[in-house]
Amino acid sequence: MTVVSVVGARPQFVKLKPMSDALAAAGLDHQIVHTGQHYDSDMSEAFFHGLELAEPLVNLGVGSGSHATQTASVMVRLEPILREADPAWVLVYGDTNSTIGAALTAAKLRIRVAHIEAGLRSGNRDMPEEINRILADHSSDLLMAPTQLAMRNLRDEGLASRAHLTGDVMADVLVKATAELAAQGRDEDGDYVVATIHRASNTDDSVQLKNLVSALSRLQIPVKLVAHPRLLAAAANAGLDLAVGALEVLAPLPYLDMLRLMVHSRGVVTDSGGLQKEAFLLGVPCTTLRGETEWPETLVGGMNVLDPQGKRLEEIVQREVKPPDEQPYGDGQASVRIVKLLQTNVNER
Ligand code: UD1
Repeated sequence: MTVVSVVGARPQFVKLKPMSDALAAAGLDHQIVHTGQHYDSDMSEAFFHGLELAEPLVNLGVGSGSHATQTASVMVRLEPILREADPAWVLVYGDTNSTIGAALTAAKLRIRVAHIEAGLRSGNRDMPEEINRILADHSSDLLMAPTQLAMRNLRDEGLASRAHLTGDVMADVLVKATAELAAQGRDEDGDYVVATIHRASNTDDSVQLKNLVSALSRLQIPVKLVAHPRLLAAAANAGLDLAVGALEVLAPLPYLDMLRLMVHSRGVVTDSGGLQKEAFLLGVPCTTLRGETEWPETLVGGMNVLDPQGKRLEEIVQREVKPPDEQPYGDGQASVRIVKLLQTNVNER
């Protein structure tokens, strides 16, 4: 049985890691198609090397562009590859333009599609990722839901018969990575906060971006701003200097280095979905620079606080947090469950 994973953006390389390992352990033929949505080496190659992922079968070279351009390029370039490979399954991950482009292409070729990280909803359709999530779920044959809440969202949209509660593949990779970090020996905890900003709603509105950067720069503790290329481009456009006040600007980090930086920090300030969850799983307080989250489980016990305008940033270092007793993101075996589901559902539509 051949399985093709289509990935293109940084968080998808992380989700691909446990799936690649579980597919290999089951002895299945697994091919990787890289759409090329992310192309800078520190956004792509660094992840393939750091996570020891196999070379992609092909890189579609889609690159940057408007949503229509990016999505359409994925579709046009992927179609002949999928025709040729004729896999039993196409795996799509998360909520990017690569996800929706690949899901639509495979669905129209009548190749089975499984959506990993299905059922997430922020409730905010202004967010391009929200449209991608909804459409990817509705065009997929199997929906791998990371949480109970995701299962409920899928049921509410009439998708219960295709949905399975598997746990979260990002917990799978994190469990292994933290063991690796522990084996490397423990660094001292540092007196700093880690920050990232890259959501379009924060970068593409220059007033909003200036306000957030200004709020971060005024913190009384060093802030390590790990800058996504989209942030650097938006700051340059807005004539905004990022290296001011408390802020120290760092280039994007490989997965393990980012986890190490987070685990020793006093807190994380971010608009990323993945980082909110990683902070939660690492037991580090998080402030999310958005008005809503598709990971509401992280809000429990004050572990994560929504702060869309950056007005409550000072509290990140003093906030009392209580890691919950229950583990909403699964037991680190989601990828193994997903592979079993692929094997057992191969003849059904
Ligand atoms: C995309 C995803 C988002 C995901 C994020 C992770 C969509 C709609 N969004 O957002 O869900 O959380 O990836 O990073 O698919 N750029 C570079 N080099 C790169 C990649 C991007 O310079 O390697 C710059 C380009 O100027 C590009 C901009 O970043 O135009 C935005 O990139 P894009 O892939 O469109 O969206 P992300 O913000 O990365």
